[in-house]
Amino acid sequence: MFNNTAIKKVIIARNNKDLAFFLTNFRSKNEHKTIGFIPTMGALHNGHMSLIKEAKAHCEFVVCSLFVNPTQFNDSKDLDKYPRTEKEDLTLLELNNCDLVFIPSESDIYPKKIKDYSINFNGLDKVMEGKYRDGHFNGVCMVVERFFNLIEPNFAFFGRKDFQQVAIIKHMVNVKHLEITIISCSIKREDSGLAMSSRNSLLSDKEKENALILNQTLKSGLDFHQKGKGYEEVYKKMLSVFDSGFLKLEYLEIVNNDSLETVQKIDKNSSVCIAAYCGSVRLIDNCPF
Ligand code: PAF
Repeated sequence: MFNNTAIKKVIIARNNKDLAFFLTNFRSKNEHKTIGFIPTMGALHNGHMSLIKEAKAHCEFVVCSLFVNPTQFNDSKDLDKYPRTEKEDLTLLELNNCDLVFIPSESDIYPKKIKDYSINFNGLDKVMEGKYRDGHFNGVCMVVERFFNLIEPNFAFFGRKDFQQVAIIKHMVNVKHLEITIISCSIKREDSGLAMSSRNSLLSDKEKENALILNQTLKSGLDFHQKGKGYEEVYKKMLSVFDSGFLKLEYLEIVNNDSLETVQKIDKNSSVCIAAYCGSVRLIDNCPF
């Protein structure tokens, strides 16, 4: 007989009222149990599933959100073409034993006219992504804080592919004195080395091949650094590897992991971050030294 007892149906909350109902129900029966939260914009892949696995290891109840957040897009074409795959997402969440998925409407997240939201980012928002995506991190923090208020998780899980986002969310949690522990999880890659991303589904096979130059660029820098080369040589090497490919570079920066400021000396507390266009798809990647 077909045995599907290992797969539990994921609870779906499509509005704030349902979310509150399910969470209250869980909390009333499980006073000391922890809730882990993974915010996503859907188009889920194995990178997201590794966050769920990490959350399941830490927490008794795992909540995932699917919401393409308009306030973090500074380009309406990018927002329009962002992949939306709810049916497949739900199947993946169920197979990976996510307990609850929150799929709010825009009016649940932004009930009134979008208010001014601002936080002092201490300059973290001015570099790298911030230089090219005006207001992006404001939009990210606005939606993440809203989710945190609605869900009140004990832990929230973010992928390190969004290196700057993780630093900024940790900063936001600090300045807002939120009682949530942020856990950053390692980048998941395809066997080819390509960092997993929802945007990869927008790439053709040829573009996926071309996109490998991102990881190759980072690896060449790491390799040169391990061979004892200094900043200048490492940076030049990465540029030459990148230039041998077909992508359009937006930035390639070696930065301090905490301040995100560019550094001229590479050490254990620095990372290299890259953003580039592969055709019309913007991709990012990074790697610690
Ligand atoms: O990393 C993302 O997918 C988004 O920035 C997030 C954290 C879900 C907020 O919309």
